[in-house]
Amino acid sequence: MIRVKVPATSANLGPGFDSMGLCLGLYNEIEIEETEGGVEIVQDGFNYKNCPIERNLLYKAMKAVFDECGKSPKGLKIKIESNIPATRGLGSSAACIIGGMVGANAMYGLLGPNDILSLATKMERHPDNVTPCLMGGFTVSCFDGERVTYSKMNLGDEISLAVIYPDSKLSTGKARTTLPYKVSHRDAAYNAAHSALLVSAIAGKKYNLLAEAMKDKLHQPYRMKMIPDMEEIFKIYKEAGAYGAYLSGSGPTLAAIIPTKEKESFSKEVCEKLSGKNYNFDIFGFDNMGTYVRKL
Ligand code: HSE
Repeated sequence: MIRVKVPATSANLGPGFDSMGLCLGLYNEIEIEETEGGVEIVQDGFNYKNCPIERNLLYKAMKAVFDECGKSPKGLKIKIESNIPATRGLGSSAACIIGGMVGANAMYGLLGPNDILSLATKMERHPDNVTPCLMGGFTVSCFDGERVTYSKMNLGDEISLAVIYPDSKLSTGKARTTLPYKVSHRDAAYNAAHSALLVSAIAGKKYNLLAEAMKDKLHQPYRMKMIPDMEEIFKIYKEAGAYGAYLSGSGPTLAAIIPTKEKESFSKEVCEKLSGKNYNFDIFGFDNMGTYVRKL
């Protein structure tokens, strides 16, 4: 029996489009058993629809590892307990891919972490969620179409991530249709400068720079029309004392980095201001370990 504990993630962080991500203390739990034949998947928890086995993302990820290793079990029983809300911009698809790949690799142990990362990125198409999901912490990743080059920093418990998400879903595919094919040199330079400032602010724990560093011109302005209360929620976050706020992944979750010691007063103020609106609100700590696998 193999058990995998796989975390949620939050990507982009404003200017770090398709590159930056944070690993959160919220997890899906997966149990994998080899059987004498067939594939059985039992799912429990958040927002998952039953779909044919061959379209199940976690199973597809396992199969990609079996194909890569040239080995395959006779049969499988997979149990998934999902706590990560799906299609909300909290890395649920990255968690399926990494959870499946790490679980499958634990059966044969042939691939190294960087091989898994590249295989997962090819399946997800961008590394911003899969890297922190596998490695933990705050990660910056570059993908050349074949391999991922990344840098990881551990995060302290003096900061936490507040998230607000509606009950409605938004797939990354749909959210990407709003993006322009070309952007101006000026906007590209703006994001390069803000990304650099963001990395420096996090590395140096200069959290007061985050409000400026999390500004973006490559995706948030275009996606705003799909996220109705985005500006209002950013304003609420700011008034409640957030260091900086951004659209988590492709949305619809809106995230803010906050001082952990202000967690209670921050929650109270945000919940009061959101009252009457149909939003979910939560605060998570960060996870510096990433995906954890055990063979029992
Ligand atoms: N970076 C992706 C996007 C989403 O903004 O479309 C998360 O992988």
